[in-house]
Amino acid sequence: MKLGFGADHAGYELKEKLKKYLEEKGYECVDYGTHSTERVDYPDFGKIVGEKVAAGEVDKGVLVCGTGVGISLAANKVKGIRACVCSEPYTAMMSAKHNDANIIAMGGRVVGEDMAKMIVDSFLENTFEGGRHKMRVDKIISIENEEA
Ligand code: RB5
Repeated sequence: MKLGFGADHAGYELKEKLKKYLEEKGYECVDYGTHSTERVDYPDFGKIVGEKVAAGEVDKGVLVCGTGVGISLAANKVKGIRACVCSEPYTAMMSAKHNDANIIAMGGRVVGEDMAKMIVDSFLENTFEGGRHKMRVDKIISIENEEA
């Protein structure tokens, strides 16, 4: 599986740790920045990762900012993106199984490294269940289409 990574300055260090962890697990990782702790704007990185996921250039995305909120809000403005902020593994698992999330977002100032690894594992190791959940996700897609 090919993963796209993005972070702002507040998420940079956790993004680097997660990228190394997932590379060691055999995931192909593409890093869209940022590449240092120099202050940057999180929407730029939510947008690029959202676009890469939506275009199918990577299969899923991993985003980190201070809280995970801002960068996920930006990614969710890209058509076709369902980015979920998670601070524990249960929500990450359910975002994959029930919401067909295609991006996980986390807060580098919220979760520690070990928790972040558990969260990303739960997201990546679970798949969409479809069925009644597909009907609901289709309703989300309808809203997106109506608002376009
Ligand atoms: C940057 O200070 C911080 O606002 C940002 O990383 C993020 O938490 C926004 O949602």
